[in-house]
Amino acid sequence: MKNELIHGDALSVLPTLPANSFDALITDPPYASGGVHAFARQRSPNEKYMQSGAQQLHADFPSDERDQRSHLAWMQLWLAQCNRVLRDGAPVLLFTDWRQLPLTTDALQCAGFTWRGVAVWDKTGGVRPQRGRFSNQAEYVVWGSKGGMPLGRAAPTLPGVFRESVRKADKHHMTGKPTDLMRQLVRICEQGGRILDPFAGSGTTLVAADLEGYSWTGIEMTGHYFDVARARLPSP
Ligand SMILES: C[S@@+](CC[C@H](N)C(=O)[O-])C[C@H]1O[C@@H](n2cnc3c(N)ncnc32)[C@H](O)[C@@H]1O
Repeated sequence: MKNELIHGDALSVLPTLPANSFDALITDPPYASGGVHAFARQRSPNEKYMQSGAQQLHADFPSDERDQRSHLAWMQLWLAQCNRVLRDGAPVLLFTDWRQLPLTTDALQCAGFTWRGVAVWDKTGGVRPQRGRFSNQAEYVVWGSKGGMPLGRAAPTLPGVFRESVRKADKHHMTGKPTDLMRQLVRICEQGGRILDPFAGSGTTLVAADLEGYSWTGIEMTGHYFDVARARLPSP
């Protein structure tokens, strides 16, 4: 398999990929978060996630408006397809926020994966401060594996907390992750393995995978972000 970025809906594309062909799933799916009630969650990502008064710099994206039940059902659908295409023992990393943490650990297990822990992305001080409350300065990486995960895998010892701030010059998507954060996370994959990201966005997971010497396959549904990712990635 060559490195590939595919423009399409993950639910349609994943069934076309060969079984047992990927060594890690590392992805940042739409969170369907951003509000306590269903009505609040149905707003666009731009309305939900941009801090008030901030200028919109990045395009909106779909699949972020579901309520809890339909988001869980949707997560299970695509995670079950990912289970099919991963090799036994492959690690699975799913980004989420504090609201969707319980739903994400449920979805991982409902799709047949073994849940192994939660790593923390500390976005550092000054992020989302709230007077009289705790700052929501962290996002989470729910992680697990397809079945057993031998300790002797060809992968290094990784920390459980990652401190990385978001820099404007390195942000190519409304919810883009720092490239240096992703460069650390992809090392969970066995050396030289193939990494799958079915919600590639601006391609940060794939850029990091490439820099760290892994093969990669990405899927992205929004034309704008597909073009952004393609421009960041080396041509196959
Ligand atoms: C949270 S963003 C990923 C951002 C990425 N981590 C980055 O650093 O740029 C999720 C992406 O999933 C895409 N998406 C939403 N529904 C999708 C679907 N059904 N199939 C494929 N991509 C989808 C959205 O367009 C969005 O770009």
